[in-house]
Amino acid sequence: MDVPAIEAQGLCKSYKSFRRPRSVVLKDISLKIEPGEIFGLLGPNGSGKTTLISIFSTLIYPDRGRLKVLGLDSRKSRDAIRKVINISTAKPNFPWSLTVRENLRHYAMLYGMYGPELSRAVADVMDAFALEEYRDVTFEDLSTGLKQRLALAKAMLNRPKLLFLDEPTTGLDPEMANKTRQLVRSIHEDGISVVLSTHYMPEAEVLCDRIAFLRKGVVVALDTPQNLKGHLRLGERVVIVYEGPADLSRLKEDPGIMSVKSEPGRAEFVVDKSSESLDRIVKQFSKARIKDIAVKEPDLEDVFLELAR
Ligand SMILES: Nc1ncnc2c1ncn2[C@@H]1O[C@H](COP(=O)(O)OP(=O)(O)OP(=O)(O)O)[C@@H](O)[C@H]1O
Ligand SMILES: [Mg+2]
Repeated sequence: MDVPAIEAQGLCKSYKSFRRPRSVVLKDISLKIEPGEIFGLLGPNGSGKTTLISIFSTLIYPDRGRLKVLGLDSRKSRDAIRKVINISTAKPNFPWSLTVRENLRHYAMLYGMYGPELSRAVADVMDAFALEEYRDVTFEDLSTGLKQRLALAKAMLNRPKLLFLDEPTTGLDPEMANKTRQLVRSIHEDGISVVLSTHYMPEAEVLCDRIAFLRKGVVVALDTPQNLKGHLRLGERVVIVYEGPADLSRLKEDPGIMSVKSEPGRAEFVVDKSSESLDRIVKQFSKARIKDIAVKEPDLEDVFLELAR
């Protein structure tokens, strides 16, 4: 039970192409993903997320490095690994003229099921992913959101222990994206390890236990969302809108206040913890009329900008 979901050491990958020079896409990736984790791969377009997920899911080989998936060696035990993992991607492509149910039966067959076992597996995922009412709709007639949901359902057919999701909510409207996140959470609550990629910071923040930031094929940071914010000293932001006089010079010396920016009628502070410094800040506005106070937690967008610098 306690084998890591993923143990990667020194993974490198480059693509050769006929005309262009060889491009290095992943450089020396080493990481360990614990069982039962939701692990996020976060990075801008082209940073190597899909390539890394393709390597983890044994779809392509790395040029160098070692990889164990659920304790199994990726070179020696590819077939055994494929029985216990599955993958769903942002732009799923299924046979267009088959219905939801036919598509699921088709995949269940590919996974080696037949008879009552196959029927039960298909019924189970249709139920879990609320697809029953669309069972007779062909793939080409499904909305983008339902296509993604079908892809998730398909990925659960073989009851994987480790699930890879490449940009599971890209292209979905906010409501559908939220539904998908709930489904991912419920999959995770069943004890399944999840590795997902996204370039949407708030998603990684609410969903993931740990996050690896990829940039140009390198892991530039790896930690819990909370620690990533802390280590980078990205404090909370306090914004005060006011009228009248205020003396901010003392606040610039305050050790709990990391920065002070002011313009007429508006002051912005980056603080370690607003609960500890808000009182001292507000006192400096005693002769002014405060019109608005806002406290904003740092989000991963800030972490991302900081790392990209
Ligand atoms: N089959 C391929 N042949 C050549 N180059 C490729 C191939 N697949 C990916 N690349 C290149 O590798 C780099 C990383 O691509 P990858 O798809 O892994 O990034 P990504 O982080 O998933 O990006 P996105 O956010 O756009 O999905 C890109 O520069 C891409 O052009
Ligand atoms: Mg990608």
